[in-house]
Amino acid sequence: RVQHILEELERRREQAKAGGGEKRVAAQHAKGKLTARERIDLLLDEGSFEEFDMFVEHRCADFGMQDQKVPGDGVVTGWGTINGKVVYVFSKDFTVFGGSLSGAHAAKIVKVQRQAMKVGAPIIGLFDAGGARIQEGVDSLAGYADIFLENVMASGVVPQISVIMGPCAGGDVYSPAMTDFIFMVKDTSYMFVTGPDVVKTVTNEVVTAEELGGARVHAAKSGVAEGAFENDLEALTQVRRLVDFLPSSNREPAPERDSFDEAFREEPSLDTLIPADPTKPYDMKELILKVVDEADFFEISSEWAKNIICGFARMDGETVGVVANQPQVLAGVLDIDSSRKAARFVRFCDAFNIPIITFVDVPGFMPGTKQE
Ligand code: HXC
Repeated sequence: RVQHILEELERRREQAKAGGGEKRVAAQHAKGKLTARERIDLLLDEGSFEEFDMFVEHRCADFGMQDQKVPGDGVVTGWGTINGKVVYVFSKDFTVFGGSLSGAHAAKIVKVQRQAMKVGAPIIGLFDAGGARIQEGVDSLAGYADIFLENVMASGVVPQISVIMGPCAGGDVYSPAMTDFIFMVKDTSYMFVTGPDVVKTVTNEVVTAEELGGARVHAAKSGVAEGAFENDLEALTQVRRLVDFLPSSNREPAPERDSFDEAFREEPSLDTLIPADPTKPYDMKELILKVVDEADFFEISSEWAKNIICGFARMDGETVGVVANQPQVLAGVLDIDSSRKAARFVRFCDAFNIPIITFVDVPGFMPGTKQE
């Protein structure tokens, strides 16, 4: 009997791991995207993932949905570690109803959010999903309300990181928008309130998905995304790198680790980096790389509002936030975008006990009617 139960458990596990089936997984790979589980494997330390709610199914009985159930219901949730640090994760499975959100799917995410706050650990969401599950209607919308509430409660309490890794619409964009950092994958990820088809129907405007909400648009033009990466692997590797800089919660000081740089080392090139003539530009990034430990600098929003530079680095092993004017772009003036970029960053550092180093070289505010 026990043998029978174990076999049944294993069969169910295999079924859950298969997601939306071979064909849809192949389509996912053909688009250059990894599956929800492959992404978790790359994000977390090997073998560290502990899954929750693997067999949860939706409760919808409309539109023939009672006959279409996939264990896990389109999202893989749980916790694991990144270089030994505990993080909570949810990863949307596009092969199951396009990763769309049901009431049961929402409850799985809320559980992870609450647990992360209790433990004091970052929450990382991997998004590849078409928003509210149309078949569930209002139950799905109510699920989003629960998730959004936890986004608000977690703000400033634990770091919240969102990675957009597929076409994301509706609630799968609104929730990331409330988190601390959003990263996208070039050519395979999109973020929009409504997709190009709805735009065409409502306003008759013809626009491609890339123009409407592609990675380049959000990383360089709207500033919604803090970074855009070449592929899933690079995005997940960079999230691991970012997590290393962050404290697990607002109850902890900024992390410290051994540095290979001497705290009092001299950097003679700094004597000549800044030109004597104040009208001559220079690259502030070069200065930052020379000052911080091991020239290791994780830049935030490197393609947007380039007249200010924000990012994480270490000094004598301890995480610091760097905010610096960039004389090379618009002479380093402050305008609306750069002020917002820096303010957001400073607020994050403030909430998470990260000291800030400011390098100031600024001619002042950008004048003009547009800015006023
Ligand atoms: C149910 C969905 C779905 C959804 C996609 N699918 N979105 N099922 N609810 N919202 C299913 C498809 O039927 C399809 O099923 C599979 O997922 C893959 O979708 P495709 O359309 O074939 O993929 P693709 O061409 O890549 O387009 C992806 C997409 C598009 C851009 C996300 O599917 C799309 O526009 N979906 C609808 C988006 C939307 O309007 N969502 C509602 C947002 S409103 P099969 O069986 O063929 O594999 C919202 C409100 C939040 O979220 C408010 C909170 C208060």
